This record gives sequence, structure tokens and C-alpha cells, in this order.
Amino acid sequence: MSEFGSTINLSLIADQLERVGYIVLRAPLLERLSAQLLLRCQDDDPERFHAARVGRGQAERRIDAIRGDVICWLDGQDCVDQAYLAWMEELRVGLNAALFLGLFDYECHYAIYGSGAGYARHLDVLAGTRNRVLSTVYYLNEAWQAADGGELLLFAPTGDAVIATVKPQFGTMIIFLSESFPHQVLAAHQSRRSIAGWFRVREIG
Ligand code: OGA
Ligand code: MN
Repeated sequence: MSEFGSTINLSLIADQLERVGYIVLRAPLLERLSAQLLLRCQDDDPERFHAARVGRGQAERRIDAIRGDVICWLDGQDCVDQAYLAWMEELRVGLNAALFLGLFDYECHYAIYGSGAGYARHLDVLAGTRNRVLSTVYYLNEAWQAADGGELLLFAPTGDAVIATVKPQFGTMIIFLSESFPHQVLAAHQSRRSIAGWFRVREIG
């Protein structure tokens, strides 16, 4: 286990994903790792972060009205990013063993929403694909206040009911089934920092 190591409550996560389809965890990672992740989630180096885009390949485009964050993919060469990826790898292996999900890999990026930015209601499934199975978001905002906005709304699989409102507080993580839950990020009134990621299965055909 790395210097950042923290244990994963696998049976709790697997059980709730199976029964409910999503879970909100408080402080699943060590505080020390979270503090290092926050230091990595800074866009002072213009080389690292770029505007997030919607869609993939030919359909990819930037539409501020839909999605207003800047992102930076985690770097497998960086030891802090490695520690986060290692925790997710342990989760991947554990969930495959418990739920036979066939999760094949994991991709994730830091995201910073500036004041006024949000992300309109969407599903984390790219058009024409079904390879994103499980979404994760880990929040890095210290002393987040209600007035700061930026909540994640999770909608019921069908209809318009909001089934969870998640404050993007430091140390909170949500994990949810990508294909089941439309979701939306309300406009933030402060810079809002997070790591968004997806476990994927191998694409068929
Ligand atoms: C995403 C997303 C939610 C959040 O990046 O796809 O929905 O709370 N993020 O940041
Ligand atoms: Mn999303």
C-alpha cells in the first residue's frame, strides 16, 4: 500500500450499487491524499488544463451553455495522480469480483468550473457507445457553503424527479451507474474543483 493508502469499504459500495445504483461516500480517501489532489487541480499552468468539450471525435464541440468547466486528464507518471488511480484500480478489481461488471479500465480528469459555470442535464454515455458503465466524482472544495452553489443533481432513471442533491464538499465522492442516472451540475458561484471519472467495459463490435 502506498504512503497515501486508505482502505476501501468494498462490500458497502458493491451492495449499495447493486440495490440502489449509486452511493455517496464521505472521506473515502486519506485527507493527505485529498490535499495533494487539490494541489494538482490548479489551472495556473496554462499547459495542463483546457476547455472541456461535448461529444467525441467529429461530433466533439465546445458549448459553454452546456458545459463550462476546464479539464486536465490525470497523468499516470505523477505520483499523486498514481495514488488516486491505484485506489480506483482496487475498486475496479473489487467490484468486478463482487458484481461481475467486467470493468476493463478507468479514465478520469480534474475539472474546474469557474464562477457561473455548470453542466446541463446529461447522461455520461457517449453517443453510439455503451462503454462507460460506472461514473465517479470526487470533490475537492474546502469550506464549501450553500451560497456557493455547484450542487450535483442526480435524477431518477425515468422522469424528472431529483433523487439526490450532492454538495461538492471536500472529501465527498459519488459513484453511480452511468447509463441509469441523468445528472446536472448547478452553476457554481466560486471555483469548483473535482475529479470526474468513468469505469469502462470493452466496446463490443
Ligand atoms: C461530468 C459530470 C458532475 C460533477 O463531468 O460528466 O457530470 O458533479 N460531473 O462534477
Ligand atoms: Mn456527467
